[in-house]
Amino acid sequence: MRVLDLSSGDVVLDRRLGFAEAMAKAGDYAAAAELMAETLLEAPTWAAGWMLLGDWRCEAGDLDAAAEAWGRLAVLDAEGIFGAGLKLASIGRAVPEPAPAYVEALFDDYAPRFDAALVQRLGYETPQALAALIRVVRPGPRFATVLDLGCGTGLMGAELRAHAGLLVGVDLSEAMLALARKKQIYDRLVRGELLDWLAGLDALAGLVTASDVLNYTGALPPILTAVKARLSQSGLFAFSLETHDGDDALRLGPSLRFSHHPDMAALAAEAAGFRVLARRTHVLRKDRGEPVAGELFVLENPA
Ligand SMILES: C[S@@+](CC[C@H](N)C(=O)[O-])C[C@H]1O[C@@H](n2cnc3c(N)ncnc32)[C@H](O)[C@@H]1O
Repeated sequence: MRVLDLSSGDVVLDRRLGFAEAMAKAGDYAAAAELMAETLLEAPTWAAGWMLLGDWRCEAGDLDAAAEAWGRLAVLDAEGIFGAGLKLASIGRAVPEPAPAYVEALFDDYAPRFDAALVQRLGYETPQALAALIRVVRPGPRFATVLDLGCGTGLMGAELRAHAGLLVGVDLSEAMLALARKKQIYDRLVRGELLDWLAGLDALAGLVTASDVLNYTGALPPILTAVKARLSQSGLFAFSLETHDGDDALRLGPSLRFSHHPDMAALAAEAAGFRVLARRTHVLRKDRGEPVAGELFVLENPA
């Protein structure tokens, strides 16, 4: 049996929670929400606090503000026990879902043009930048096992090869994998959806990478939880995110790619039990002549 714990773990903040709950009980949801919003400035990773803030804003009739609070909850509550997705759906703001079949078809079609288009025309250097950041954070010996999520045609694998014992790549797209296979970079290539594949693994890795992949997979918490379960102690998770600077944690753009708020991504990583070792803003590539804003992250699974 599970009892939902609303406490912040801090007596002073919990006392304020008590006042806010009393205001809500008396029907003054706007005042309860205001006090909670102030309190959360001091405890930005307090998932239950964001849930209550969303609930009270919703009761006060401010649905946009409620959606913002529940959006924060969605990135902080890695297990999903506070039901952020359901709460958002109940006011018509469902968290957009990834679409693996669409992504598979997209990259099957794109595969023959991928390397030339991305590297030569769109200035794609994320694998090199991510590999350089990994070496800054962990300059030591090579990683015994490396998992490259969404390995595509192997551009990330080429950067990792010299630093990896066993190098395994997984990807949804058979056409992308076929090109990676030809390059003979990986020890093993697997066709599959990365979350399904991680769930079925029993090996542990010292490094997991996802270069230009998490903008197709949507919400971060399920990915963070799944990767953490497959990382050895002190193991690293290095990835890029497409970013935006709005109020929401996750956005689905007209490009049908997801972008993340980088600060909320860092909070989500901490909430999932990672330590954020490095963050760098990084232009991912060009899109119709415009730079695509992004950020590189290296997280550590603490020992
Ligand atoms: C833009 S490409 C990047 C490929 C490679 N990481 C690189 O840096 O060149 C994105 C890749 O992620 C794969 N991908 C996207 N979502 C995935 C998922 N849920 N599971 C496995 N692969 C996925 C796509 O099929 C595609 O090959």
